[in-house]
Amino acid sequence: MYNAAISYYGGAEVSYDLDEESNWGFSLAALESALDECRTRGLVPRCIVLTNPSNPTGAVQTYQDIQNIIEFAYKNNMLVIADQVYQHNIYEPETYPFISCRQVMLDLNKQGKCQGLELISINSVSKSCYGECGRRGGYWQYENLDPKVVSQLLDVISIGATNTDGMIAMDVYCNPPKPGDVSYALWKKEYDAIFNALQSKARMVAKEMNGWEGLSCCVPTGAMYVYPRIHASQKAVEAAKKLNKEADELYCKDLVEQTGIVVLPGAMFGQKAGTYHFRMTILLNQGDMEEALLTWKAFHHAWMTRYQ
Ligand SMILES: Cc1ncc(COP(=O)(O)O)c(C=O)c1O
Repeated sequence: MYNAAISYYGGAEVSYDLDEESNWGFSLAALESALDECRTRGLVPRCIVLTNPSNPTGAVQTYQDIQNIIEFAYKNNMLVIADQVYQHNIYEPETYPFISCRQVMLDLNKQGKCQGLELISINSVSKSCYGECGRRGGYWQYENLDPKVVSQLLDVISIGATNTDGMIAMDVYCNPPKPGDVSYALWKKEYDAIFNALQSKARMVAKEMNGWEGLSCCVPTGAMYVYPRIHASQKAVEAAKKLNKEADELYCKDLVEQTGIVVLPGAMFGQKAGTYHFRMTILLNQGDMEEALLTWKAFHHAWMTRYQ
């Protein structure tokens, strides 16, 4: 949606790669290289988007990663959009807790750093354990924006404002039942059941796929996705090229045609040249997921053998 908005408003997009080797963390080198690309293309970077937890990688960023990106944005005079819609989908909270970008910025401000950084944080009711893309409701919180910009943003936002249904959902999201409330016990039971299922599927799928030849996968620490890497052979890469596709696009096309399972190729998100991925969601219920994985495993082995 960011690319769509950028092209709609006549802007230009420059992407930065995440580092798969460090659990899909940010790399300062990749940010600097994106900046170089801006300079080469004669672009003035205005804004950087940080998605944490991440779609499609399922990674949760560390404090240091967020600090790096804030300092980078400040140094280069960019607005930061912190897209944190998966902030409650945190599956390894001991090692990868959710850290809010605003909190890091305020910590830095206390040390006299990055004062005045423009920041917009975003949240949505469609993730977490609530709407899951059904109800449309969200909020944004801003720091240090010019009041004239805020006024224009409010105009734009009021045109596409959330409907009543979404507003009620947002209110419930921000003010969930508290212990002692009549609905607390049921809410807690349902919330925990959904959360535990997501956490267990994230771990289960990654463990399963790491056992398949030619796939490797970081265990998702957040969001709703598993993002495995396909170690495609040269033969697969060439077969895809003949169809004007990347190897992961060929894999996903064959998968849906032969099994009915739909996943998105990494090529759709942008990925390091010569690497191939697919993104799957972990929303399917556990039983169906296990069944799908059996069919998929057979497909996967046949596909890898075919292009050996
Ligand atoms: C990172 C991220 N931000 C925002 C959205 C969109 O949220 P909404 O459903 O509120 O439009 C998505 C949807 O998948 C997403 O992955």
